[in-house]
Amino acid sequence: MQQLTFCGLEISFDHRVLEPRPWTEAQSEWAAELLVDAPPGPVLELCAGVGHIGLGAVCESDRNLIMVDINPAARVLALENAALNGLDSQVEFRLNQMETALDADERFSLIVADPPWVRSADTSLFPEDPVRAIDGGDDGLDLARTCVDLFDLHLSPGGSGLLQIGTLAQAEAITAYAADRRSGSLSVVDSRAYERGVLILFVH
Ligand SMILES: C[S@@+](CC[C@H](N)C(=O)[O-])C[C@H]1O[C@@H](n2cnc3c(N)ncnc32)[C@H](O)[C@@H]1O
Repeated sequence: MQQLTFCGLEISFDHRVLEPRPWTEAQSEWAAELLVDAPPGPVLELCAGVGHIGLGAVCESDRNLIMVDINPAARVLALENAALNGLDSQVEFRLNQMETALDADERFSLIVADPPWVRSADTSLFPEDPVRAIDGGDDGLDLARTCVDLFDLHLSPGGSGLLQIGTLAQAEAITAYAADRRSGSLSVVDSRAYERGVLILFVH
């Protein structure tokens, strides 16, 4: 078991999960800012891993946080991390594929998402990472598209979706995907590029 400090929280992880990346504090911090004026309701974290991004987003608020991930080890560690930081009463973990983890009528004030985004052909470049944590399909965007679909279905009116992706080219592709969706209720309003990834802000 290893530990690091993330947004002032003590976070445990091990070899069964992706190691938390320090730069992703930016996603938690942006999410926490959005929460100040977000509609009432809980926060959803898709592809939560050990939950540090979602915990960092809600730790200064009383918002409930629902985490979703398919990795049983992530569930154990995320719930330990919530407890270690006194946030367990705010947190629920759903061990499930995100595609089927939510009831049709569930709505969230904010959704943070950190899907795998490496192209399947390139996953061998990252031998230290669990393949299911990084494999995003042929173009790397299979799960990112699912996240956008879930933003559209499950954000409250006025709610925000904050998606992490790998590159500016992927950000352009996923922005085009969102624009092509027929519902017309989801828009990309901002993005921020970092050395190791890109954050895209959607509003509903
Ligand atoms: C890029 S990792 C991010 C994990 C964590 N947020 C972090 O920063 O370390 C992607 C996560 O998505 C999970 N995952 C992959 N496919 C999924 C699916 N269909 N539904 C839910 N979670 C999935 C993996 O288990 C992994 O924990």
